[in-house]
Amino acid sequence: MGDSETPSWGRVADNVASLIPESPHRTQEGKPRLLIVGAGMMGREHLRVTQQLGWAEVQGIVDPFNSSIEWAQSDWARLSSQPLQVYADLRDACLDSAVDAIVICSPNHTHYDVLKIVCESGKPILLEKPMATTLVDAMEVLRLASEYPSVIQLGMQYRFKAQYVEALFEIRAKASLGPVKTVAMSEYRPPFLDKVNQWNKFNRHSGGTLVEKCCHYFDLMNVIAASRPKKIYASGGRGVNFLDFEWQGVPSDIDDHAMVIIDYANGIRASFTLNMFCQELYEELVVVGECGRLVASEQASFHPDTPSEARLQVEVPGHSAYRPQGVGYPPWIEETGHYGATFFEHIAFHRQLAGERVDAATPQQALWSLIVASAAQYSMAIGQAVDVAAFCTQEGVGDFFEDSEVG
Ligand SMILES: NC(=O)c1ccc[n+]([C@@H]2O[C@H](COP(=O)([O-])OP(=O)(O)OC[C@H]3O[C@@H](n4cnc5c(N)ncnc54)[C@H](O)[C@@H]3O)[C@@H](O)[C@H]2O)c1
Repeated sequence: MGDSETPSWGRVADNVASLIPESPHRTQEGKPRLLIVGAGMMGREHLRVTQQLGWAEVQGIVDPFNSSIEWAQSDWARLSSQPLQVYADLRDACLDSAVDAIVICSPNHTHYDVLKIVCESGKPILLEKPMATTLVDAMEVLRLASEYPSVIQLGMQYRFKAQYVEALFEIRAKASLGPVKTVAMSEYRPPFLDKVNQWNKFNRHSGGTLVEKCCHYFDLMNVIAASRPKKIYASGGRGVNFLDFEWQGVPSDIDDHAMVIIDYANGIRASFTLNMFCQELYEELVVVGECGRLVASEQASFHPDTPSEARLQVEVPGHSAYRPQGVGYPPWIEETGHYGATFFEHIAFHRQLAGERVDAATPQQALWSLIVASAAQYSMAIGQAVDVAAFCTQEGVGDFFEDSEVG
């Protein structure tokens, strides 16, 4: 995105300018000390962000896989001269008085079991997306969260990507677009990356592609629509990727493309397109209201040293971004991972610990994103449109569907 040290435009520029210089959540010794549960790709991103932001210290990691521990230790040696404790037992690690807050970034199918143990600590938790791989487990996570004495923030950090920060600001300032009528999102990208034990190549471990990958987008669409999803139709499947892939003798069953249509109860119509057999990454959000159209896009690359670009366009007469504007964070922030989104997710966590209201996903919002993803996957499986209320009743989350607000 930008190649200067300053962000290029708008709301994002204000956020960078107001970066908090000091932590409001200090222990007596100083900064809060984090435990990272799962030291794989995302765990190492959390290590990096913590050090670059400087709001917390990393106390230690827990991971059953030796190679992940070694990679994390080698990353850590470049980031800090302080020791990184490797805990052998999750419960002992969580209950260690040297740990103040816990980041869970183990694979999707472990989230619920890991969370049950982590919750014994009563300490603040940042739980990676998706909250669980099934709606039944997600409901249990919600129950744990509702009784929990501290913060549980969900890792839907696409909310903090520069183009979506700007887009959500414009959409909420109703004077700009006016009441929203349609929302269209899409993601075109390369295939799933290698993971430890290839958990993301199997529906039973990831929850399925629309749960694993797309809960981020359904979260954003729910926030924009601010209404219950009423009817969902999805079509998709396995076109190109991992068709002959096996792991320990089990064939992959993961989908690589889908098209999803969502009718929201307030009349907003939404669509989502996923294609995972592309060379480069391109994401787009198009929102049309009574007064104009907004386009937020990101062109990025998985190839090293390839520039990326995020843009925002607001086609409302007189708007300063009527012609597309580049948006983005300074390179030192973007380089910490996910183009700076994880960095601002940590700032949100940090602020939540100080009791501030932030724009991070709550367990309820994470469950709404999982409901849309799961209903879409079910629609793909049965080849028919799904009534979301009936689907939720069938899946044991009917009361949540009736009683909770979206958005
Ligand atoms: N928010 C995002 O944009 C984003 C991006 C990537 C991944 N993620 C999420 O982060 C999580 C991890 O993904 P990843 O890409 O780092 O996968 P990964 O395979 O690279 O790393 C997962 C690590 O967890 C370890 N692990 C397995 N079981 C464990 C357990 N019971 N306790 C502790 N550690 C355990 C594995 O050994 C591995 O080192 C997933 O839930 C994934 O969906 C989120």
